[in-house]
Amino acid sequence: MTPDYRQTALWLQDRLPAVPHVAVILGTGLNDLADSCEVLCQIPYSEIPGFVSSTAPSHRGNLILAKLEGRQVLFLQGRFHYYEGYPVSAVVFPVRTLAALGVKNLVVTNAAGSLREDFVPGSIAMLSDHINFMGVNPLIGPNDDSLGERFPSLNEPYDPEYRKICAGLAKALNIQLHEGIYIAVAGPSLETRAECAAFADWGADLVGMSTVPEVIAARHAGLRTVAFSIVTNYSNLFHAQAHSQEEIRHNAAQASGKLRCLISGLVKILTEP
Ligand code: HPA
Repeated sequence: MTPDYRQTALWLQDRLPAVPHVAVILGTGLNDLADSCEVLCQIPYSEIPGFVSSTAPSHRGNLILAKLEGRQVLFLQGRFHYYEGYPVSAVVFPVRTLAALGVKNLVVTNAAGSLREDFVPGSIAMLSDHINFMGVNPLIGPNDDSLGERFPSLNEPYDPEYRKICAGLAKALNIQLHEGIYIAVAGPSLETRAECAAFADWGADLVGMSTVPEVIAARHAGLRTVAFSIVTNYSNLFHAQAHSQEEIRHNAAQASGKLRCLISGLVKILTEP
């Protein structure tokens, strides 16, 4: 039987001491952010009905209610990717569960390759828009009208007001924050030089293997969304050698502190009493 995210939300409601308004998906390089917070409740994905298991490296697989700078926030520590072999419905199941729980705001993080020379590895970028080149859409199939409309507009998938807040925060914190267009591919192989050249021609600045299905599902369900990439590597446009996972992990670790500061600041503003 297909698991129902509403049932899962009820299951979680029985176990979580509170449901905050903000959730953060912690992608590659950022899973540790939750460890530096006061953890109020931690539930492994393996125990949550309808959640599959995280098989991606460094994706720890926990739902965590924590205090970040004194404010409650729900962390999804690790995500599910299409390349892991899961149907896209499983990839977005956690987001739909958050919507059913009553979460209103979603912060999405990922690791991405750079399609621009000035988006240097180790830097961070906020998404202004995306191109879905994954070959799937999580809304295919019968529409759940109680969640959202059949043909949701993706006019502004990344909330303009929240982006403005983040740009202001970055300035105040003296953090360089790029803004760019993210193209999502299925993966898991990285992109060829020819593919990268095509993506750059289309206007993409960053390439990665996640985020877009989650953002589509979140916007469908009416969540306000903002997303950040840690630039972990140059794409093959500017990269002479084969990529290594060490290089990607190293650059992710370098940038994660800056993104933590930014997310803390944003959560503080979004949860202002
Ligand atoms: N391509 C796709 N996904 C990625 C990359 C990349 O270069 N780096 C980190 N995630």
